Amino acid sequence: MIVDRADFPLLAANPELHYLDSAATSQKPGVVLDAMMHYYTHDNANPHRGAYALSARATERYHQARERVAAFVGVRDASRLIFTRGTTESLNLVATAWGRTNVGAGDEIVITGLEHHANFVPWQQLATEVGAALRICRVTPDGRIDLDQMASLVGSRTKVVAFSHVSNALGTINPVAELCAMARRVGAVTVCDGAQAAPHLPLDVDGLDVDFYAFSGHKMLGPMGCGVLVGRRALLEAMPPYPRRGRRTWATRSVSRRRANTSVESGWRRCASTNRRSPRSPPAGCAPFPTFVCTGRRRRNAAGW
Ligand SMILES: Cc1ncc(COP(=O)(O)O)c(C=O)c1O
Repeated sequence: MIVDRADFPLLAANPELHYLDSAATSQKPGVVLDAMMHYYTHDNANPHRGAYALSARATERYHQARERVAAFVGVRDASRLIFTRGTTESLNLVATAWGRTNVGAGDEIVITGLEHHANFVPWQQLATEVGAALRICRVTPDGRIDLDQMASLVGSRTKVVAFSHVSNALGTINPVAELCAMARRVGAVTVCDGAQAAPHLPLDVDGLDVDFYAFSGHKMLGPMGCGVLVGRRALLEAMPPYPRRGRRTWATRSVSRRRANTSVESGWRRCASTNRRSPRSPPAGCAPFPTFVCTGRRRRNAAGW
């Protein structure tokens, strides 16, 4: 994609600068910086925390951003999209909240030799904590996941198969649908690190049929400190709270509702002030949600909608 330096105030102000580290974090276009300024100037309040007009407006912006991001990555049900601080937090969320509940001694976790630390360390830690075995699928000489070895590693003990969509080191595009089908045959959950795919590939996350898909807004022109986790609804519903502090999260609330024998629908909130549905809660505490609002903004501009 050809971009105009003039769209990026930092590049425009430094004509001699050639920025080659977009895979770590992208520079931010003027429309994103403007959207941040506009938000803080006109709409700033704590979403979901107040019944006054400003808070309702902030909440509305938050929901709009979720819906835009969901549409951008091909997720029809926006309520299964959770905002996080980045891919690393999204993957840690799955390994911690889902993993500690569902993976135990004697189980196996399968990852690949292509993984970024963000999709390696949480699984290594989980395996150590619960006494599971970590299996690492080798990479072929031409930089691909060895699918023959993968087929032999994924078996009846496998609880989770975690892999990247696009390798940050080699640029390899992995066969996500094939890996998911392999995992599904043995009932394992799939976790895909989309940090380098989301900024570069047209995405149809629903079509991939993956259980969890993680990516970072700040690598795709959005502000620092924003990321996404898309999860299968039933798995999100069954997850315990993460992190274990502050306000109750999606999972705690839905679990407590289930104990009270109410419907799955009650895992979603309908906001009194805006009448919109969303996951029960963003991560505990006050999320850096203006960054999410402005991530939605950048997508509308760059994608032309
Ligand atoms: C493939 C991959 N996964 C995960 C990450 C971590 O992303 P973040 O720093 O946004 O959490 C990166 C960062 O470069 C990456 O390239």
